[in-house]
Amino acid sequence: MKPIATTDVLLSKMRWEGLHKKESLDRVIEKDPTIQSYWRFLLKYHRKWNSISFLDLGCGVAWVSSLVAQSGGHVTGVDITKEAVIKSKQLFKKRGSRGFFVQGNLLALPFRENEFSFIWSCMSLEYVRSTKKAIKEAYRVLKPGGTMIAVVPVVSLTTLTYHQLRGDIPNVPILRQLMEWFHLKWMSGKYLHYGYEQSFTPGQLRQLFLKAGFTVKTVAYFPMYYPIAFIPKWFRRFIQSLLKYRLFWPLCYVEAVK
Ligand SMILES: C[S@@+](CC[C@H](N)C(=O)[O-])C[C@H]1O[C@@H](n2cnc3c(N)ncnc32)[C@H](O)[C@@H]1O
Repeated sequence: MKPIATTDVLLSKMRWEGLHKKESLDRVIEKDPTIQSYWRFLLKYHRKWNSISFLDLGCGVAWVSSLVAQSGGHVTGVDITKEAVIKSKQLFKKRGSRGFFVQGNLLALPFRENEFSFIWSCMSLEYVRSTKKAIKEAYRVLKPGGTMIAVVPVVSLTTLTYHQLRGDIPNVPILRQLMEWFHLKWMSGKYLHYGYEQSFTPGQLRQLFLKAGFTVKTVAYFPMYYPIAFIPKWFRRFIQSLLKYRLFWPLCYVEAVK
C-alpha cells in the first residue's frame, strides 16, 4: 500500500480498524434489514451481475458484495484497514463466494486505469478530506461507460443534530473550518468516533463528480434502512417516513457514468 500521510486518513484508519475488529461475521445477510436495503437498491442496476467487474470502495466487511459475487459478479474490495480485508476474505470463504480484497487508500487506488465496470462506494468517500481526489481516483479506474454509485451523508437537520454525536463535519464554509478546528485541533479527534467524517450538499456532490469528468445521472435520497434504535418503537415509523424529505435526508446517492 502507498504511504498515507494525512491526519484525516490516519484517524479514519485507526477508528475503523478498531470497529471492524469488533464486527462479527454471524450477521444473517438474508435477514439483515440494512444489507437487504442495499441489495434491493443494487438490483435496480442489474438483476444478474454475471461477468460485471465490481469494485467495492471502502468495502468494510463486504456483506453486500458477497451477494453481488453470488449473483455472478467479479468482486474486488479495497479498504484502508487490514481488518476489513481479513474479515471480507473470511466472509467470502464462509459463503463459498469468490472475491479479491486488498488493503489500499481511496486517494491512491492500487488499480490500473479502466479496470472496473461498476463502482459501489457505500459511505466511504466522506472519510477522506480530499473527496475531490478520491472521486478522481474512482474515475481513473472505472471503464468508459461504467457506472459509479456513491452513497454519502448529506448536510441536513439529521446530520446537523443526530450525526453530531459521532462527529460529522458539515462541508459548509465557516462551519467546516470551525468544526475541523474543534475536532482535530482542540479535541485531537476524541469525538470523531468514526474518524474524519464529513457531509455534503447535493449540489457540492454533483459538482465534484462533474469536475472529475463524470456525467451525473442522479443525486437523490438513498432509501437505506436507517437504524434509529434509541427512539421509542411507537415513534420510529414516523421518523423513518420523515427521512425521505430533503430537510431530513441522512444520506443521498450519486449515480454517475464515465
Ligand atoms: C461506514 S464504513 C462502510 C463500509 C461498507 N462500505 C458498508 O457499506 O458497510 C466506511 C469504510 O471506509 C473505509 N475507509 C475509510 N477511509 C478510507 C480510505 N482512505 N481508503 C479506503 N477505505 C477507507 C473504512 O475502513 C470503512 O471500512
